[in-house]
Amino acid sequence: MGSDQTNQTPYYITTPIYYVNDRPHIGHCYTTLIADVAARAQRLVGRDVFFLTGTDEHAEKVSKTALEHDKTPMEWATINAERFKDAFAFMNFSNDDFVRTTEDRHTTKATQYIQQLLDQGDIELGDYEGWYDPSQEEYLTEMVAKESNYNSPVTGKPLEKRVEQNYFFRLDKYQSWLEDQFADDTITILPGARKNEVLGRLKQGLMKVPVSRQIKEGDPDWGIKMPCDDSHRIYVWIEALCNYLTTVDNDQRTKYWEGEVTHLMAKDILWFHAIIWPAMLHAMGKQPPKTVYAHAYWIAEGTKMSKSLGNFIEIDLLAAYADKYSLDAVRWFLTTQGPLGANDADFAHARFVEVYNADLANSIGNSMSRVGNMVAKYFEGTVPATCNGEFGFPDGSSLQTALKALESVGKPADDPNRTFHFQEFITKATTDYHDALERMDLESMLDSARSIVRFVDEFISYSAPFTLAKQLDTLDDAPHALRSILYSCAEALRIASLLLYPAMPQKMTELWNAWNCEHLTDQSNPNSAFVAPLSELAQWNSTHSIKQGQSITKGDPLFMRADANEPAPVAEPTA
Ligand code: MSP
Repeated sequence: MGSDQTNQTPYYITTPIYYVNDRPHIGHCYTTLIADVAARAQRLVGRDVFFLTGTDEHAEKVSKTALEHDKTPMEWATINAERFKDAFAFMNFSNDDFVRTTEDRHTTKATQYIQQLLDQGDIELGDYEGWYDPSQEEYLTEMVAKESNYNSPVTGKPLEKRVEQNYFFRLDKYQSWLEDQFADDTITILPGARKNEVLGRLKQGLMKVPVSRQIKEGDPDWGIKMPCDDSHRIYVWIEALCNYLTTVDNDQRTKYWEGEVTHLMAKDILWFHAIIWPAMLHAMGKQPPKTVYAHAYWIAEGTKMSKSLGNFIEIDLLAAYADKYSLDAVRWFLTTQGPLGANDADFAHARFVEVYNADLANSIGNSMSRVGNMVAKYFEGTVPATCNGEFGFPDGSSLQTALKALESVGKPADDPNRTFHFQEFITKATTDYHDALERMDLESMLDSARSIVRFVDEFISYSAPFTLAKQLDTLDDAPHALRSILYSCAEALRIASLLLYPAMPQKMTELWNAWNCEHLTDQSNPNSAFVAPLSELAQWNSTHSIKQGQSITKGDPLFMRADANEPAPVAEPTA
């Protein structure tokens, strides 16, 4: 998609809904952050976006842990659902809704879907004997069970042999339909390595999958009953998957399901999203998701996170990092250094400080405060003039004047014929940004934003406005040249700040406030649309540009340099 057109297809992005047996940790925050950055970027390019997250409440582990805490399942689910909501508000996520699977709007619709599948004969009663993974609440095939030595491939805990009479979804009917979806990427599984795994497992053949659990004596009254049979509950996984549809299955929101759907999750639960859910949807006569994206895992300071090691990076630790380095620095680190691809990523303090200093304090923040400070110093904080961005310098004269200034202090430029085509460079950066967003390659997307900052830095080194400023009285054209140079830097950084906004909304808003730029979104509404699509907002010298006479306040640097030798932040103990 070129940067001059806006994609009119509504965009729907989801995260897994998280179990409410415990409090949120980095993994939950990470997937939701990735969804947030993608959602904000899609809004920026002008799309109509719906971003959903929420909690999965009817799991056995929720009722079990509730009991351990002397709470009813509902009380315990509510306590933890609130923790997730608070954590996500703290992370400044712009989700359009937060669904809890205990809400009527979900349970009613989920029951209807199961009823439809029963009526059609896609769900039927049968006996089932298999290897059950209690920690994941799923049955595994003989082959997967054997490969993992009859332990859970995810948690390593022993599998249980279970025999049940159950209702089954006829997943086996959809084998060839699924194969076709993946063959031409009608459903795109990303990253590629994950797609190969799914295709490998699909080749082994699909079995019927259980969609219910028999209710046993003494079971807590927790979960949704099968519509046809009071002695069964809908299996929590099948019910949970339905949340993506239940939440938008109404007149106002159905356009999102009919638009472009992206499901995000980690690799642990890809099978459910890439195989079982699309087949259920197809059976119900609904369109499958366009993209199923499964990232890898965060580990902590080189070690896998686990309950037994007690090394989970919980929201409180992220809050301690945010307190010290700013929330947007945490968002930046997680987004650019996270396990978005096929490999796991390590959350380590030393690496955090390295990235913070290199990307934020020394690059983005430094460039922005440098330009702001020069405008403050040389032009009393008022943007001196506009400048045509077509070639940076209409006739090259300003650049020539800058080079003369350098020569006169005995530091001639390496390449006196170099030109800086700002508009051209920015057009390429925004096109790359769009393309990377389409692939969900958020790291490259943000790097194309940073490339504008690097371009400005190079331009400042080359044109040396601080040298020029010392010769305002000696070189005739110096005031004009200085004005053009600073305008070009400020305008380019304004555009870079737009592209950086999805990852760092607070810091970029801080910059816009200091630079008195117009507000581009409804400030009271984190998920609001932009006043215009990026293709318009990123135009040089347009209605949204920095204007002559606009005042730029010299503010504190956006990111103070961090000392790598300081101890890592520690989480405040929580109640
Ligand atoms: N409730 C199910 C999902 C149902 S979706 C219809 C579930 N919940 S969960 O609470 O266990 O969340 C799993 C998800 O949390 C992963 O798929 C991933 O999005 C996120 N993460 C959990 N641990 C993680 C890491 N260590 N690293 C990155 N993300 C991980 O499964």
